[in-house]
Amino acid sequence: MKITVVGAGAVGASCAEYIAIKNFASEVVLLDIKEGFAEGKAMDLMQTATLNGFDTKITGVTNDYSATKGSDICVITSGIPRKPGMTREELIGINAGIVKNVAGALIEESPETILVVVSNPMDTMTYLAHKVTGLPKNRIIGMGGALDSARFKYRLAEALDAPSSDIDGMVIGGHSDTGMIPLTRLATRSSVPVSEFLSGERLDQVREATKVGGATLTKLLGTSAWYAPGAAVSSLVQSIACDQKKMMPCSALLEGEYGLTDLCIGVPVILGRNGIERIVALDLNEDEQTHLKNSAEGVRKTNALLG
Ligand code: LAC
Repeated sequence: MKITVVGAGAVGASCAEYIAIKNFASEVVLLDIKEGFAEGKAMDLMQTATLNGFDTKITGVTNDYSATKGSDICVITSGIPRKPGMTREELIGINAGIVKNVAGALIEESPETILVVVSNPMDTMTYLAHKVTGLPKNRIIGMGGALDSARFKYRLAEALDAPSSDIDGMVIGGHSDTGMIPLTRLATRSSVPVSEFLSGERLDQVREATKVGGATLTKLLGTSAWYAPGAAVSSLVQSIACDQKKMMPCSALLEGEYGLTDLCIGVPVILGRNGIERIVALDLNEDEQTHLKNSAEGVRKTNALLG
């Protein structure tokens, strides 16, 4: 199993690290445009192999796509991250050009690959990757919902004063401060709906804290987060590589599902060796449906900027 990660910045390097630590891939290629940077990150990570007990071989290359040839899965993290006060949507001007070139170059070397898009604004970059490559819809996956759901579960565990292993929950919709839809109605603590333990007001606070999860970290760190994004990518990549068929929310091209067409947005999917094996249709209530419709409008507005 060969996996390429484009962009050796904090998110890309964190992806490579978690993929390696989980020890399911034979090879990870880290690619960056900055001379020697990916080589350095790869060498540093390889020097953790004996300490962390993994056999994955990580190599770094400077903009040499021939090294990515025959990758089973390619992760695109390239582009600029947001600074405090910025929205993910504001990154489109710079990141669209980068993602377009990177996606094209990857497909040339690995025509059978599965693409995982992480660069922001992620839903729009996933849509762009579809337009540029024309790959079947199962082979392009945007990573946002897995991260947002992890942040949702973190906030739920905090509110419930519960261990994270007790918590289950999912965030669908666009990967943006206004577009995320934390599904509090379906969230549970050990199979019991969280609404049994938390007031409507407390659940609203959890929802709001989840939606600005990325922005809160950007304010604290001066740039966007990397540990949870890297871990979220690695769990998604593992489900594909190991054909685990896990269900997680990912940005997928919709063609009528949830009453939406011609856009990529976060919905629950089954991830296996073919990428998106299936889009899961949730029975959303009226309120949730309205949120998803509004979220889709937001994504469409950003998609329109691509033109
Ligand atoms: C975040 C970025 C990766 O939410 O979108 O942290």
